[in-house]
Amino acid sequence: MNTLVTGSVSTAASILRKGGVVAFPTETVYGLGADAFSASAVTKVFEAKGRPADNPTIVHCADIDQARHVAVELPESAERLLKTFAPGPITVVVPRRRDFPTRVTAGLDTVAIRIPSHPLARALIRAADTPIAAPSANLSGRPSPTTWEAVHADLDGRIDCILSGELSEVGLESTVVDCTVKPVEILRPGGISETDIRRALSAPAATEVNHGAGTGDGVVRSPGVLHRHYAPDATVVVVESDQAIPSAEGRCAYIGIAPPVASRQLAPVITCASVEEYARLLYRFFRQCEAEKVETIFCERAPETGIGVALNDRINRAATATSHLGSRASG
Ligand code: TXA
Ligand code: MG
Repeated sequence: MNTLVTGSVSTAASILRKGGVVAFPTETVYGLGADAFSASAVTKVFEAKGRPADNPTIVHCADIDQARHVAVELPESAERLLKTFAPGPITVVVPRRRDFPTRVTAGLDTVAIRIPSHPLARALIRAADTPIAAPSANLSGRPSPTTWEAVHADLDGRIDCILSGELSEVGLESTVVDCTVKPVEILRPGGISETDIRRALSAPAATEVNHGAGTGDGVVRSPGVLHRHYAPDATVVVVESDQAIPSAEGRCAYIGIAPPVASRQLAPVITCASVEEYARLLYRFFRQCEAEKVETIFCERAPETGIGVALNDRINRAATATSHLGSRASG
């Protein structure tokens, strides 16, 4: 299959309408999209990524009205979160409409909905005139792509089209919030912080936000967070801000906010101006390190505030994944 790289929203939208698979930029990471109402198109997305069928996909909508075509009803918490943060990097898990393709939701009774803020993503959904089911546009188990070149590196020849844009601004995936439970549960930290969510839901629910993969009641509500994730080829090691870089064989790289405390040569090195910039550059750095055959990537632990929580989640997962090679991939 020839993969078309285009800047044209109308070309990409017409491919989607014909049941094709199109990668597109969002403010978090690039998504790999198909018409959410076409089970066969969504199947192609799973095949192109090599994604396990038990991992459900987020449905991207243009606005709350379109979201109502996918959900049975929006619980009050979901409505409040969407009204506060959408369009933006938040995903709400809500009860799904009965007739919605189960391929998208991996057989769950719920559906994850997100309203992206990226202008190209929004234009694409409107031009295609249908909600777009889309996981991140990487091969399963690889870091999410934040550039169209990264999508191309993973999926050239496996998908119909890449709608090309700039580097994704947030750089990490959206915050996933299960709104089918009370209190709501953060299934995956992301661009919208827990503090923001508490504020939006306000008292008396303010103090009630749970965390985890939705396994508290013995039911797995978010299969994706249990799979291996965010793993580059190199070994990832998390270091504290003032910690000396430990010794390691081969080529070593560093990313953080503070400059590395190292007695040896590290390359490449990125010292970021802020935690937001660190989040934006992390996945692209992982891929650069792979291309440069780096063996160990040292990542500074981020401050546990704002997007730092999501950033630490991703670097910890990458560190765990690369120290337990052979575990299951999904992404
Ligand atoms: O920012 C993002 O969320 C990006 C962009 C493309 O929108 N998408 C993304 O999709 O990261 P993906 O498929 O890589 O991750 C979606 C996560 C997975 O952990 C999945 O298990 C969870 O959302 N998820 C999807 N539908 C769900 C549902 N019905 N219930 C619980 N979790 C769900
Ligand atoms: Mg993913």
